[in-house]
Amino acid sequence: MDKFVVRGNTALDGSLTVSGSKNTALPLMAATLLAEGPSTITNVPDLRDVRTFSKVIRYGGPSVTVDPDAHTLSVDATTLETPVAPYEMVKKMRASFYMLGALLGRCGRAKVSLPGGCAWGPRPVDLHIKGMRAFGADIELDEGYVHASTPDGGLEGGTFRLDPVSVGATINLLLAAVTARGGSKIENAATEPDVVAFGRALQEMGAQIDGLGTRTLEVQGVDRLNTGTFRNTPDRIELGTFILMAATASEPGTPIRIHEGTHEHLGPVFKQKLAQTGADVSYGDDIVTVTRPDQLRPVSIETAPFPGFATDLQAQWTVLLGTTDGTATVTDTIYDDRFKHVPELQRLGMKIEVDGNTATVHGGAPLKGAKAMSTDLRAGVSLVMAGMIAEGRTDVLRVYHLDRGYEALEQKLRDAGISIHREEYDEFAEPDLETAT
Ligand code: UD1
Repeated sequence: MDKFVVRGNTALDGSLTVSGSKNTALPLMAATLLAEGPSTITNVPDLRDVRTFSKVIRYGGPSVTVDPDAHTLSVDATTLETPVAPYEMVKKMRASFYMLGALLGRCGRAKVSLPGGCAWGPRPVDLHIKGMRAFGADIELDEGYVHASTPDGGLEGGTFRLDPVSVGATINLLLAAVTARGGSKIENAATEPDVVAFGRALQEMGAQIDGLGTRTLEVQGVDRLNTGTFRNTPDRIELGTFILMAATASEPGTPIRIHEGTHEHLGPVFKQKLAQTGADVSYGDDIVTVTRPDQLRPVSIETAPFPGFATDLQAQWTVLLGTTDGTATVTDTIYDDRFKHVPELQRLGMKIEVDGNTATVHGGAPLKGAKAMSTDLRAGVSLVMAGMIAEGRTDVLRVYHLDRGYEALEQKLRDAGISIHREEYDEFAEPDLETAT
């Protein structure tokens, strides 16, 4: 297994560049299955999740060609003979469940494994299933699989209300609805930029969708979609992560430039909260400049669906709060139990208490490097961030979580002055007694 070794207390300096979005690339890949022929996606990040989803798609019959250097990915979905997504693949990545909508839309039937749990507790897919039923699918659950079929080889369409609002269910239902025989309505739909960018690509393919970016989506099914070339959007969570790293780990007064992000995708709440900390941030076309003040102020946040504060940035915000001169809270209203990073951050000396879905962070505690375990993607990056400001050496274990969603993270940070490198290690090795005592 790999780990990152970070040596703290060297300032982040210079610039960082944002890669293509993981959470938009995956639904775009699913969308290509709705057109019989070759489609290409550009600005695709070279990530483990993209490679996993490529395997899921290939399993059904289409070919997937990836050029990681050019950041392009082509899917030839001329033939799709096996409308199945097996457990061995879906268990690695929940977004594989997008195959349900894509396969139902393309083939009128699908056998897709249930994704199972995730690192921060249960993440149900009940809305995806209820929505497909509302659109006319017959669904049975058997031996861990969703078996979906349509009475006459295609979905009728229908109306479904998402409660709570769900990014994944909105995407899955759109995939199923765009080639249904009739019209469909998705109420309380997600408005995340990832959903909007994906919906726009479907429109370019010929789908008839009204209301993208609003809570009500109306779809009129069409017979077939066209192939095409689509540009993936920049990763807004990577942009937010880099902004928070710059605000905490750079030299006060020295601007850090972050290139190629789309700042509108951060949402207004994130920007307001960041401004309240005293960080000096300017947002331009394709460039965000962050200047760290001498002292950050503590600012509490609460996660919420877009345009609210993204849950995928709360662990990084927690680390920022550790560098302030007071106490503030992080409340996650999307997930009740997304605080697995807290005990790991405590190992580095952070003062945090968790009560229910709220973490209270007492800023100003000195951080000292330690071994810490990534438990998921965003938890992992929060540990790297803490290691960057801690004194001494931090080993961030289980880097495979980070490889799922941050492209070339260590290279990007090294280019920006951070001492970080990757090492192989044996997770089951006996402790070295000399250093352990
Ligand atoms: C997506 C993102 C993930 C992000 C999350 C919330 C991708 C690949 N992943 O995940 O990074 O953290 O949005 O912004 O884009 N829910 C149900 N039943 C369902 C589906 C969801 O109760 O059938 C609940 C979830 O438990 C959660 C809430 O709805 O409390 C929102 O989850 P959802 O938006 O679906 O998250 P994902 O699409 O899985």
